[in-house]
Amino acid sequence: MRQRPVAAPVRAILDSMPIQNPFQDPLRFERRVPECVVVIFGANGDLTKRKLMPALYRLAYDRRLSAGFAVVGISRTPMGDDQFREKMLESVKQFSEDTKFDSEVWDAFAAGLFYVAGDISDKGLYERLAKRLADIEETRHAGGNVMFYLSMQPSQYASTALGLGAAGLGKGSGWRRLVVEKPFGHDLESARELSDRLHEVFDETDVYRIDHYLGKETVQNILAFRFGNGIFEPLWNRRYVNHVQITAAESIGVEGRGAYYQEAGALSDMIQNHLLQVMATIAMEPSASFRATSVRDERSKLLRSIRAMKPDEIRKNTVPGQYGPSRIGGQEVPGFRQETGVNPDSQTDTYAAATFFVENWRWAGVPFYVRTGKRLPKRVTEIAIQFNQAPLRIFGDQDGAESSPNLLIVRIQPEEGISLKFLSKTPGSGMKLRPVSMDFNYGSSFGERSPSAYETLLLDAIIGDATLYTRQDMVEASWTVVEPIQHVWKETKYNFPNYAAGTWGPAAADDMLAQRGHVWRKP
Ligand code: BG6
Repeated sequence: MRQRPVAAPVRAILDSMPIQNPFQDPLRFERRVPECVVVIFGANGDLTKRKLMPALYRLAYDRRLSAGFAVVGISRTPMGDDQFREKMLESVKQFSEDTKFDSEVWDAFAAGLFYVAGDISDKGLYERLAKRLADIEETRHAGGNVMFYLSMQPSQYASTALGLGAAGLGKGSGWRRLVVEKPFGHDLESARELSDRLHEVFDETDVYRIDHYLGKETVQNILAFRFGNGIFEPLWNRRYVNHVQITAAESIGVEGRGAYYQEAGALSDMIQNHLLQVMATIAMEPSASFRATSVRDERSKLLRSIRAMKPDEIRKNTVPGQYGPSRIGGQEVPGFRQETGVNPDSQTDTYAAATFFVENWRWAGVPFYVRTGKRLPKRVTEIAIQFNQAPLRIFGDQDGAESSPNLLIVRIQPEEGISLKFLSKTPGSGMKLRPVSMDFNYGSSFGERSPSAYETLLLDAIIGDATLYTRQDMVEASWTVVEPIQHVWKETKYNFPNYAAGTWGPAAADDMLAQRGHVWRKP
């Protein structure tokens, strides 16, 4: 049989195209790293200690940073460079779980750590920062490139960017980029407003909105799995897929973040950003190339195809929850309302579930069930794609197909891998069927450590590769879906708490799936 012609390798086509950014390899390997200074606002905060510093140290350990690389930490706490270095050393030792501490690497890295104390509302801070950057440029020759990382109270993002602009720090002899942590706005209007403010100083192409789920290896692998293989994509549509379940369960509570969490809630904290981005990655159309613009265009298109629901649909297709006190493993666990910083009659959701529909030809009519919650029985994030039954049951009703449908499970964390579940004949003379599983496991297949999401994303931003960052239109599309749900939840009085800590969430979430004859998986 004649083989159909194969498309010319993407690599060859891309190689023949002009590359605007010489540091950005379109397929994300063979990447050169430019000289630069990273300025971290919120350098005394939790994220810097737990994630940013360990990630930067690991990049240094892997020799991924340039020789003149430097970090300037900024926060209100008065301290000098040496004290900042000491503090960062402690964090790196405490939070770099899978990286060996190497004092030679640390000494070289620490020589590039600097600190400027000050209040972001004080003009003097930006002047001192400008002076410090000029000094660093003299000694370390960072090419005038500066990446500002905002890891602070979201209400301070706009004023900090404007402060940088007023001090003339938004422009320089090299490039300037702004990385912004989540949450990006608290509804559609505030997200738009924030983008407008940032654009007064930075162009949209220089704004990197971080969503650390997109940096997770297993989330990136969804693209490799779908578009690097020929056998799955033909099944990836309404004809074969019955429904999709996306679960991000956490066993921890709010861990001292009660005051922040009380304002945010699970829907805004996890679904608006992380889980809708994961859903977009699972459901988007193949992009024409692996360039940032193509991939982000497809993600954005998918997000814009998710149906924003009317209030009566929201009541049927979404479920908020809040955990109450319980005993787990012999220990008393407080309910959300008993956590520090939380109102005793708080109406905040610590659990959120929703049924989304994607209005395009590929997915019309296929429910995407999304759920997340604190204090669920275990920490697990996974995507389960459930396929339709075989059209004819030749093995009779006892074949187990009803209770064990074909499932493709993408395991994001803590285990990382992919499993395919299907029915098999059990050994013996009868034709008895039983579900079995074909498993791919990252650890055993590759035997090497996956970089943390922050390592991937920090390196990407330094290189100028925005593929895994969210864009203004994507953030606004997500808020368009989430905001009407927020409204309905706010104006409804729920009988909270409606699930006990350590259980799989409120019964209403099971009823939501039961309407369509489905049940949640117990991962
Ligand atoms: C953060 C949320 O963005 O993601 C937290 O604010 C949540 O509430 C965390 O715990 C989960 O991230 P991960 O990588 O541990 O799944």
